[in-house]
Amino acid sequence: MKHFLIDSYIDSKLDIPNTISTGLRQLFDVNDISDLSENDKNRIRSLLKGLYTTTSGTDYSNVNKEYALYYLPVNLYKIWRPLMDLLLTDSLPIKCSILELGAGPGSATFGLLEFYKYLAIDNPVTVFSLHITLIERDMGFIGVFNSLYDGYVDSLPDNLCVDICCVHDDAYSFTTLHESGKYQLVIESNMLNQNEYIDADKIFSFTEGLKKSLSRHSSVILIEPAKKESGIFLKRIKKAMQVAGLACYSPCSCVNTECGQFASARVDISGVSIYSELVDSGIISRPQAHHSFEYAIFRNDGLKKYSFEGTGTELQNLANRIGEVIKVKAFILTIGNETEDSFSLKLCDGSLNGSNEVWLSVPKKSLVEKEINCLTIGRGGIIDAKNVVITGPRNLQCTQITKLRIMM
Ligand SMILES: C[S@@+](CC[C@H](N)C(=O)[O-])C[C@H]1O[C@@H](n2cnc3c(N)ncnc32)[C@H](O)[C@@H]1O
Repeated sequence: MKHFLIDSYIDSKLDIPNTISTGLRQLFDVNDISDLSENDKNRIRSLLKGLYTTTSGTDYSNVNKEYALYYLPVNLYKIWRPLMDLLLTDSLPIKCSILELGAGPGSATFGLLEFYKYLAIDNPVTVFSLHITLIERDMGFIGVFNSLYDGYVDSLPDNLCVDICCVHDDAYSFTTLHESGKYQLVIESNMLNQNEYIDADKIFSFTEGLKKSLSRHSSVILIEPAKKESGIFLKRIKKAMQVAGLACYSPCSCVNTECGQFASARVDISGVSIYSELVDSGIISRPQAHHSFEYAIFRNDGLKKYSFEGTGTELQNLANRIGEVIKVKAFILTIGNETEDSFSLKLCDGSLNGSNEVWLSVPKKSLVEKEINCLTIGRGGIIDAKNVVITGPRNLQCTQITKLRIMM
């Protein structure tokens, strides 16, 4: 399957589709966010500020539109990273039955549709067909999704047939009580964390239910905020997935079920025009150029994105080996400390205990491929580094003779 358009867009500063920005503004009866009254701006600002201040389930009943206005634009393209991972091994079906849990206003749903839209444009003689079941416990969000979808659906190409069914239900009961062997793809974005309604004691039956709902050769994509607290929850779910027999496909696929590493991917949101309107109107006071997230893909057929299994040992005890020059193959957990001349990659070869961190500092001038940058590399890649020097208990550096191969 060709994917030139996705390749060229995934690391650019994409805006969300016009029809969706327009639909979001229409939820508030304005043509531009700056047209909102000062009262409304203040109200939206304080509603958004008040979200997620506790660690119990969130009641969205009075905040559906406001959530959509801010979170849908920043979350929409996060799903492209895992979808791209699946595409690289040709594991994204042309005809796909999809279950989405906790769809909210459709942030990940529209991201998925946009991804398939570009695949359909790049492959005009192929007919793509998606049957999507959205599970959502809050009726207000179903209303917001339907109104945005009404304005969006006509922008899809003719060779992409989409059929969406919204179900007002609890994700937990749906997956444990309903359909078996039906879905090729299950997705969730920001629903499996301490701020939502999934009973932590029932995680094992939940993941069993997820597994049962899958047809053969199928995938589950989980996307969660890159925060320490949600990371703990995600790791518990990862463990339960493995117990249920669902193997991690990407970004890391080592067998350490007690992993304590912190990892993150990110999307560039600087091209999202409605986000800029929120900033210009003072609704968002601390603008960000990127939004970080964590994700994981599981498969029920053992398929993995990389053959590397995270069975290295090089990174486990650097403190006694300072000055040594080593070679290492590792998963890239996140990227940071970017300056004009360099950036650092947080690495794990599967041997790190607890939350021990190892960072490799990379001078940009050492990169042969200039399109490799802070957006293209990151969560979901592998690095093969030869001749790097151990400069500290947690630090590696490139030398004049370092050879780096980065697989994304
Ligand atoms: C943080 S929002 C995420 C919305 C959207 N997926 C996104 O990424 O922007 C969490 C969503 O999950 C829904 N949700 C939480 N617990 C749920 C459950 N047990 N069953 C169904 N939906 C649930 C909430 O109503 C809300 O729409």
